[in-house]
This record gives sequence, structure tokens and C-alpha cells, in this order.
Amino acid sequence: MNLESILFTQGFGSRRQCRALINDARVSIGGTLCTDADADFPTDDASFCFSVDGVVWPYRERAYLLLNKPAGYECSRDPQHHLSVFSLLPPQFAERGVQCVGRLDQDTTGMLLLSDDGKFVHMFTSPKRKVPKVYVATTRHAIDDAQLSALRNGVLLHGESKPVAAVAADARGEHTLALTVMEGKYHQVKRMIAAAGNRCEALHRERVGGLALPESLAPGAWQWLDEADLGSLRSG
Ligand code: URA
Repeated sequence: MNLESILFTQGFGSRRQCRALINDARVSIGGTLCTDADADFPTDDASFCFSVDGVVWPYRERAYLLLNKPAGYECSRDPQHHLSVFSLLPPQFAERGVQCVGRLDQDTTGMLLLSDDGKFVHMFTSPKRKVPKVYVATTRHAIDDAQLSALRNGVLLHGESKPVAAVAADARGEHTLALTVMEGKYHQVKRMIAAAGNRCEALHRERVGGLALPESLAPGAWQWLDEADLGSLRSG
């Protein structure tokens, strides 16, 4: 692929802007400046990287990202009341069409997937495709066995015709509840906890499918997902 197209597909602006970056000697490959926008490079080589203004970028045909979402950020490019999660990412990702894979509430923390692969986004957000998601909730009241049974057997959410059951519901402490759900309904976990007679004070997502949020990823930090991570996601 030629260098202009590499920058263009990776979110560095219009073709004209990408050509200008190259002409202005801001782009290098393997440590060597390249000012030829038509020079070809082997982007099918998985280790192919380029750098712009000294920042190294791996070439990725599609972007698969994991963000450890902090509280106070909206999963929208056009947020209403808080900052956007996209403000935590390099602007190249929004430019190349990366979107959130499902949404977390502004006050929910933890594992947020993002991608510009429409099929992948659909696969993980479609109600038909059941993907287990593990949440850890801090509850206002002490968790009791009746609440755990209600969550496991199914609770009727306001506006729904059928009860929704957790695949697993376990107390990790007096006020700490781990809940695994398959669906992705609006405010689902908070509504389930309310329907079971308690109240969710804080919510954190720690796992999607077979992929857990790495402890090494600080709140607000992001990382690329590799093939092994994508395999884990699907294996859950
Ligand atoms: N359920 C909720 O209630 N909120 C979230 O952010 C995610 C799941």
C-alpha cells in the first residue's frame, strides 16, 4: 500500500492532509524519513509500523481496542453532559470510524470495547448473539439470599414483558455483587438490582466473553486487542 493510503486508512485526515504530512517530512518508516507519498510498503506484514512526529503506529486494517473507562465519560462522540470516551483516545480512531461496542452508562467504569469493524460491532451488540458480561456492583443495602435467588431466577424490569435472569449472581462481600448477564438492555444491571430490592451505587464491568479487563490497564488507558484477545472474547 502506498504511504498516503496508509496514513489515510489509519485516520490521519484527508488524502491531502496525509500527503502534506509526508511532504513535510513528518513520517518515517523503520526509523528513516520517507517523503515519497507514493512509496509502497508491505502492510500485510503484521509487524509493519510507521511513525508520525516520532509516535509509532502499528498498521491495522481494522482497529479493535479496549478502554478502561473511568466514571464521568459518555459512550458517545456527541456527549450531552459529560466528556466523551473519545477524548481519552488519539483522534485518529474517531477519524477512521471507530465506535463503541455497546454502551456503558457515564458512571459505569471498566471494560469498553471499540472498533471500526462493523461486523464485529454488530456481533457483540446484536440481541441475538448472547455474550456473557460480568459486572461488579456496589449496593446500597446488604445483599441477601432472597435478592441473589431473584436475580438468578429472573426479575421483571419495568417496561419488559418477560423476566430477565442473571446467568450468575454471587455476593463478593456484604455490599459487593458479581452479576453475569447475556443481554445488553438499557441500564439492565441497575434495573435488575433495583427489581431485586436493592440499589446499585457503583458499577464496573470486568469481563466480556472470555476476556477480562487486564489489571495493568489503568483507568482512562487503552490498548489494542490482538488476535489472542479477540479469540478470548469469542470463547466466553
Ligand atoms: N447495566 C447498567 O445498568 N449500566 C451499564 O452501564 C451497563 C449495564
